[in-house]
Amino acid sequence: MTSDNSAGQVVVRLDGVRKEYGDAIALHDVSLEIRAGEAVAVMGPSGCGKSTLLNMIAGLDRPTSGRITVHGEDLGSLNESGLALFRRRRIGMIFQFFNLIDDLSALDNVALAAQLTGTPASQARKRALELLDELGVADRRDNYPATLSGGQRQRVCVARALMNRPALLLADEPTGALDSQAGEQVMDLLIDLNQIGQTLLIVTHDQRLATRCASRLIEVADGRVARESTLERTA
Ligand SMILES: Nc1ncnc2c1ncn2[C@@H]1O[C@H](COP(=O)(O)OP(=O)(O)OP(=O)(O)O)[C@@H](O)[C@H]1O
Ligand SMILES: [Mg+2]
Repeated sequence: MTSDNSAGQVVVRLDGVRKEYGDAIALHDVSLEIRAGEAVAVMGPSGCGKSTLLNMIAGLDRPTSGRITVHGEDLGSLNESGLALFRRRRIGMIFQFFNLIDDLSALDNVALAAQLTGTPASQARKRALELLDELGVADRRDNYPATLSGGQRQRVCVARALMNRPALLLADEPTGALDSQAGEQVMDLLIDLNQIGQTLLIVTHDQRLATRCASRLIEVADGRVARESTLERTA
């Protein structure tokens, strides 16, 4: 566990966040903070609100009430285009089922993330290739997603998520669709990223992922934070 977590600046703050979908309450009254350099795991039963929480921090969805601040920005004050810009600039996201664009090569999938923020194509491709190289999939740069293994796809997704040097990397079940070996590789990757300072928020059902990668655990039950604890990371 890194020793300076408590000294890090607050990257994410939720104050009294509630989310309703029609009559259903997905989150009741969630308040929490995540500091720079932390690796936080969110766990809890299916349907308890984990993805809802992540999606709202990413600005993909809005709370019914309460306030979310990320990297100093009050998400409630942003309109839709402001939120889209915030997402592209500040947030990297990794999902269980990859969400890559089928008819773009691995390299183009990664480069696109930067091109959408206005980075010239040549510069975007250069950084994309560097990231694919760091993640060990540079030799797959011209492959389409369908011709990649699950582990390779997830590496491409991690590269894409890192393109714009996000303040926060969010992962929703990043190993959920992977076999155990590929899952271990993605865990190693997340640990390495956190060790060089990347702030992480990982939603998972996998106790091993949480204890290997996270320095803190937030347990959610029925739309509420049921428990928060510090983790001693295992090797
Ligand atoms: N767009 C939506 N419209 C209506 N209800 C929704 C929507 N998204 C989520 N919900 C409901 O909100 C609750 C929380 O869902 P959420 O996806 O956050 O759970 P989760 O903890 O991520 O579950 P899982 O572990 O199965 O992924 C569930 O009861 C779900 O049915
Ligand atoms: Mg979920």
